[in-house]
Amino acid sequence: MIEKLQPHKPKYTAFVATSVDGRSSLTEKTLPDWNSQEDRQFLHQSLSHMDAVVVGRKTYEAAAKHLRKRITYVFSSRPTTLCHRESVTFVNPVRVDLEKLFQDHKNVAVLGGGMAYRFMLENHLLDELFVTVEPLIFGRGTPMFTGGTKTTRLDLLSSRPLNSSGTLLLHYRINH
Ligand SMILES: NC(=O)c1ccc[n+]([C@@H]2O[C@H](COP(=O)([O-])OP(=O)(O)OC[C@H]3O[C@@H](n4cnc5c(N)ncnc54)[C@H](OP(=O)(O)O)[C@@H]3O)[C@@H](O)[C@H]2O)c1
Repeated sequence: MIEKLQPHKPKYTAFVATSVDGRSSLTEKTLPDWNSQEDRQFLHQSLSHMDAVVVGRKTYEAAAKHLRKRITYVFSSRPTTLCHRESVTFVNPVRVDLEKLFQDHKNVAVLGGGMAYRFMLENHLLDELFVTVEPLIFGRGTPMFTGGTKTTRLDLLSSRPLNSSGTLLLHYRINH
């Protein structure tokens, strides 16, 4: 009997820095400048194990210089389906089969912002989540999932302080 090969499924991991009151951004146009040096180092090291990155168009515009050399997928409603610029692919996520698009990657990092996290979570394209909680209350700003999202249960895999100033790193598995 000939076995049918199953398409490869990558592991999708999201990384988010947040204030204690669950805000991931104070402004729409810039990347967080309030997260700790230790969080930046953690993200940098983690990205060395990832072979592709997914971001929303707004985050891409804020972070383009860091992402241009990576295999990066940018969500946008502007392309009909796909639009390639060197290693960056602009993709309309509602018009493309993302599982097929990502099938050649082993580890996909989801780097936000809130719309991209939400789309990936709601479409079962998130396996794990690293949340860095910085010891800040903003009292305003963008929530982690723009526009809200469905209730989702998570399993805590680990938690550890990243420094002595109160930054915590939480690692969860998404319980779909
Ligand atoms: N704290 C953190 O760890 C962290 C991480 C990353 C980003 N951020 C912050 O988050 C903020 C941006 O978040 P955001 O939610 O406003 O924007 P975003 O997710 O970065 O980008 C939103 C854009 O992505 C495209 N998009 C997303 N989902 C889509 C869908 N389902 N269909 C079609 N297009 C889709 C749309 O682009 P078009 O308008 O082109 O259609 C949309 O306007 C920035 O301030 C950034 O600094 C924080």
